[in-house]
Amino acid sequence: MRITMIGTGYVGLVSGACLADFGHEVTCVDKDAAKIGLIHDGVMPIWEPGLEGLVKSNQERGRLHFTTDLAAGVANADAVFIAVGTPARRGDGHADLTYVYAAVRELAKALPRAVVVVTKSTVPVGTGDEISRILKEEGAPEGTMVASNPEFLREGAAIADFKHPDRILVGAEDERAREVLAQIYRPLFLNKAPLLFTGRRTAELTKYAANAFLAMKISFINEIADLCEAVGADVQDVARGIGLDNRIGAKFLHAGPGYGGSCFPKDTLALLKTAEDFGVRQRIVSTVVEVNDARKAAMSDRVREAVGGSLLGKRVALLGLTFKPNTDDMRDSPSIPLAKGLLAGGASVAAYDPVGREQAEPLLPGVEFAANAYEAAAGADALVIVTEWDEFRALDLRRIRQIMAGAALVDLRNIYDRQAVEDAGLTYRGVGRGT
Ligand code: UGA
Repeated sequence: MRITMIGTGYVGLVSGACLADFGHEVTCVDKDAAKIGLIHDGVMPIWEPGLEGLVKSNQERGRLHFTTDLAAGVANADAVFIAVGTPARRGDGHADLTYVYAAVRELAKALPRAVVVVTKSTVPVGTGDEISRILKEEGAPEGTMVASNPEFLREGAAIADFKHPDRILVGAEDERAREVLAQIYRPLFLNKAPLLFTGRRTAELTKYAANAFLAMKISFINEIADLCEAVGADVQDVARGIGLDNRIGAKFLHAGPGYGGSCFPKDTLALLKTAEDFGVRQRIVSTVVEVNDARKAAMSDRVREAVGGSLLGKRVALLGLTFKPNTDDMRDSPSIPLAKGLLAGGASVAAYDPVGREQAEPLLPGVEFAANAYEAAAGADALVIVTEWDEFRALDLRRIRQIMAGAALVDLRNIYDRQAVEDAGLTYRGVGRGT
């Protein structure tokens, strides 16, 4: 199949490279000439494990191309995927579809013949209908079809998620569109990945429902963690105890500082906006958003308590700044309200992140950046594990104790064993570990 991917962000670049790796002929188009130039030079615009090698090997085999020229990019396409950004619209939380619709207008004029236009970007219910309308209005070739094919990959594990999905979801109203997508995903189908066909609106909503449900699991376990602390129970055991029930499932039950990233915060808000537009209440998702915002804002209080009740004049070291490990993405990261809360309380803050420094620095004015975990910990009253990068899992705790001024270890990801920490002479405060 000849596939064009419009947009070389997370979803576009990873999907394009993986589809090329299956043997399809893929052209990725992006308006950003600097970005395309960098990719041509082998520099990835995002930090994602395995991506650089995958892009390079498929470029070398002649299956993966990059261009800024949309008309050239779609000249031979059978299917055109739209994978441009849909950020939250400033002020109201609605998904901003400016980039999607601009791409569709341009595409309509550039298409030499009918294709299947596939939205991969996360878009609100009804966007496929509007795309269809715009294509007609702009004179796209007769027979051009629109399908929805939401992506479920996670940053940091994007390639594995794309290649081994739990399911592939295709929302389409035409048999031909279903056939083309079945053909595109045939290599995965052979791996027994279920290919689920639904109506277009259903597919669009399913993506939001999936992210909202996962966000709900996280907020649920975070509130249970608070209760564990109050009653003297251990949230990790509770999570295991409920997660072994197949009806509940063990994943996304890690208590922590609240969810961040480019998806859950934005998609839960967008779902609420859609519900509002249609006059339907969504009290659960609304509460999830509220619980998560409050949780992120409350993390600096945990540190304050760990250093004796006042942050004034205290030094705090933060380990990990990105919203999760294996990414340089800082969007809506819990580290941002945490660092701000600490600074507002009168603490000085030193921080270290294995790859996020460049993205983090502009967002965290007043924070000092260290070259490694030990440099950050030197002279600190409290050491806070904010993001569970692997390199923080086996720190030399005795050395940490020696170089710190105080002794508080606040483990917001529960990666340490209380006893091991206390044996090294530090005090331990995890999340939901009340025992
Ligand atoms: C999420 C979904 O997991 C993907 O399926 C989806 O495709 C993607 O959004 C998207 O819509 O594009 P992502 O945002 O990359 O992926 O990251 P997650 O691994 O889901 O983590 C999101 C946040 O939840 C992180 O801040 C993480 O630390 C937090 N989290 C996750 C927890 O606090 N506890 C958990 O048990 C799991």
